[in-house]
Amino acid sequence: MTDTDVRLTDQEREAELELDQLKQLVGLVPYDETTDVFPVTGWDAIHFVVGNATQTAHFYQSAFGMELIGYSGPETGNRDHKAFVLKSGSIRFVIKGGVDPQSSLHDHVRRHGDGVVDISLEVPDVDRCITHARSIGATVLQEPQDLTDDHGTVRVAAIATYGETRHTLVQRSGDGWSYDGPYLPGFEARTSSYVKRDGEPKRLFQALDHIVGNVELGRMDEWVAFYNKVMGFVNMAEFIGDDIATDYSALMSKVVANGNHRVKFPLNEPAVAKKKSQIDEYLEFYQGPGAQHLALATNDILSTVDHMRANGIEFLDTPDSYYQDPELRARIGQVRVPIEELQKRGILVDRDEDGYLLQIFTRPVQDRPTVFFELIERHGSLGFGKGNFKALFEAIEREQERRGNL
Ligand SMILES: [Fe+2]
Repeated sequence: MTDTDVRLTDQEREAELELDQLKQLVGLVPYDETTDVFPVTGWDAIHFVVGNATQTAHFYQSAFGMELIGYSGPETGNRDHKAFVLKSGSIRFVIKGGVDPQSSLHDHVRRHGDGVVDISLEVPDVDRCITHARSIGATVLQEPQDLTDDHGTVRVAAIATYGETRHTLVQRSGDGWSYDGPYLPGFEARTSSYVKRDGEPKRLFQALDHIVGNVELGRMDEWVAFYNKVMGFVNMAEFIGDDIATDYSALMSKVVANGNHRVKFPLNEPAVAKKKSQIDEYLEFYQGPGAQHLALATNDILSTVDHMRANGIEFLDTPDSYYQDPELRARIGQVRVPIEELQKRGILVDRDEDGYLLQIFTRPVQDRPTVFFELIERHGSLGFGKGNFKALFEAIEREQERRGNL
């Protein structure tokens, strides 16, 4: 197999990303799509349902440096809700909030708080995916259908995943399908009067690396099997039991990825321990399984953290002892910046046989202690920061303690 087997998606091309850059950013690998039972090209968009989409859309512009590109709402004929489409590099977020008092989006917010409802994926053949998914017994939430407006036609369908989360599948090319609108039929182009502060780069992150799903105790393997059998995902790495335990809490995690590794889903379940784990806290406050964190890939995590902090984003603290630990320093070896620069910002570093990665985690971005973000800068490592799990979970436990949830 040659490198030509991975091609840039339209979103990546529009974002002026390059193949080599993406290989480094998100660990893209070549693979043969023709043998895949459920070929997935990459992420299409991540849909959030929130209590106030108007204000949340502002937050992702002002704090995350994203750009408003599309809109659907009462003015465009959608009387149920408002939806704002935001972009950063090849990432698309769709932020939705109910307008009609009877909108079902309000029920979702009442039960789960703000959260991710749809991890939408771009696929080359919607019908092929749905036929396969149905044959394995997956729940088809939306049958394949064409959506059309002046900009062209796309084909979409949706299947259910953990909790009330879904995967909408979007086909944007192929015989009879092409689309050049801002997002999907029903959305119009929209820009914002928001102006970035002086010195802030065009974007703070370029691509989506992974989305972690939290599932109930004892159900992780079921969902790993779902992604293996229904969606043809491969197992990437496995962290179980003691790998991810602090003195108090524990969790188990396995990672699945699509053929080209653009889409990576670590799946967590709580493990029995002395105190309530971060996964238990999530499941309690989200009222069930759901997306826990989204990892945003950046090629300059130091600058991104500085700008996001200046924009008011709060990150988890890392104690100085982390950076002074001789064992850690020996293991991580040489990285692209002095350790002191990482320490100043609380950025974690991990190394494996393939290289290293830098990462940091935000505090929850809504009222409930559920969804948060990770920033990740990969240098060869295709891992998820296994060496940092203990330090990270201890940091999360300090936060849980402060919230009275440990
Ligand atoms: Fe992560």
